[in-house]
Amino acid sequence: MPKVTIDGKTVEFESGKLPYHEHGKPESILDVCLNFGMHLEHACGGNCACTTCHVIVTKGMENLSEMDEDEEGDRLQMAPGLTLRSRLGCQCVVEGDVEVEIPSWNINYVSEGGGSMNLGDAIPAPVGKK
Ligand code: FES
Repeated sequence: MPKVTIDGKTVEFESGKLPYHEHGKPESILDVCLNFGMHLEHACGGNCACTTCHVIVTKGMENLSEMDEDEEGDRLQMAPGLTLRSRLGCQCVVEGDVEVEIPSWNINYVSEGGGSMNLGDAIPAPVGKK
């Protein structure tokens, strides 16, 4: 029963039993978020075509599926705030306990001018939006 902690909230599920929500790889960080009502941007629908699902792994990197360098690795290079512990939430499959943080701003904010629920206070709202 992997435990997944996302921005301090921990959920647990039985491997192979998580209902699939059709976005990203089954039992990926994104799939876990969708199952447990946790917000993670996924502008491309989990198809490894954006970087809005960028997460930073703070514990348990070894408990995530190996990165496909040609797909996830290449796409990840475009993520704002890239770190050595970055992954795309739609592509990394949970195989054991893991803790991640969602960056407070992401490419969706940059390209669309706001709207993320995860924005930090450091980024002002666009004019006319609250
Ligand atoms: Fe677009 Fe993960 S949701 S790359």
